[in-house]
Amino acid sequence: MHFQGKSFLKEIDFTGSELHYLIDFAIHLKQLKKQHIPHPYLAGKNIALLFEKTSTRTRSAFTVAANDLGAHPEFLGKEDIQLGEKESVSDTAKVLGSMFDGIEFRGFDQQVVEQLAADSGVPVWNGLTDSWHPTQMIADFMTLKEQFGTLEGKTLAYVGDGRNNVANSLLVTGAMLGVSIQIGAPLALQPEKWVRELAEGYAEQTGATIFITEEVTEAVKGADALYTDVWISMGESIDVDERVKLLLPYQINADLLQKTGNPDTIVLHCLPAFHDKQTSKGKQLTDQFQVAALEITDEVFQGPKSKVFEQAGNRMHAIKAIMAVTLGNLFIPDTFFEQT
Ligand code: CP
Ligand code: NVA
Repeated sequence: MHFQGKSFLKEIDFTGSELHYLIDFAIHLKQLKKQHIPHPYLAGKNIALLFEKTSTRTRSAFTVAANDLGAHPEFLGKEDIQLGEKESVSDTAKVLGSMFDGIEFRGFDQQVVEQLAADSGVPVWNGLTDSWHPTQMIADFMTLKEQFGTLEGKTLAYVGDGRNNVANSLLVTGAMLGVSIQIGAPLALQPEKWVRELAEGYAEQTGATIFITEEVTEAVKGADALYTDVWISMGESIDVDERVKLLLPYQINADLLQKTGNPDTIVLHCLPAFHDKQTSKGKQLTDQFQVAALEITDEVFQGPKSKVFEQAGNRMHAIKAIMAVTLGNLFIPDTFFEQT
């Protein structure tokens, strides 16, 4: 049994071939949805959606995916339940596990999602923690595969905050899937040693290359995908001025896109993005630093190379695949998997 009953708390909970399978299954489920073919693999199941942090995509994707699979999703926000304030993670896990068939958790500490999985007795899915964003990865590499028809030999360059959850996940997932990862980030924001070593271990097996540099031009060379994320992640208490000044040279703009030297480079962003002045926070920061955008210019964000909304839409299919394989008692022949 490859997936049934298992949790997805971080990418390394599965093997590289299992991640490849999830990507392909998500592409398949997308076709089923498009052709209005029902796929109620989780009929009658109840899914708890725990959110300590805000969310548009992840919450919507889990909700719609659960409905499409015939399950009932229940949103349990930070202000709605006793978790943390009056009840321990362990007690909450036991209670939820006695009523729900699966639990999604978005929050701060990776230990919380690990403990929910350990004590609930049901599959738990990480909808983002400070450390990892695994469901995002299935959608991201799915988008890459859809655009190029294959992941083989592809290179993804990530620029910006190189030690946040998305950067960690991209580095390790790329290495597991055999996709080369190039990270351009200032020294102070490069991936932590243990994350880098984890990725390097997988890269040795898959042949992926890991390249981390301060030189943004070097980082983007030859990239098939250019990826960035917000410069300040949810829950971070840092010196905003210092962070923005440090990362301004790592902005994705037309000039940087051109520097990949690859006419087919696509642009990805997990979203939400500060690409203009249309948000209160975006306006405040762009005014303060006298720039038109932060991590990505509006020109590139809205431009023909940008696949950010395809990527966002794929979150739903990816999350559906993850919930279905871990909870749906699906028949998945062993022949799909190599031992990686
Ligand atoms: N990319 C992503 O996780 O988006 P949300 O924060 O809106 O869920
Ligand atoms: N690094 C970002 C990702 C948002 C989807 C954050 O944690 O806020």
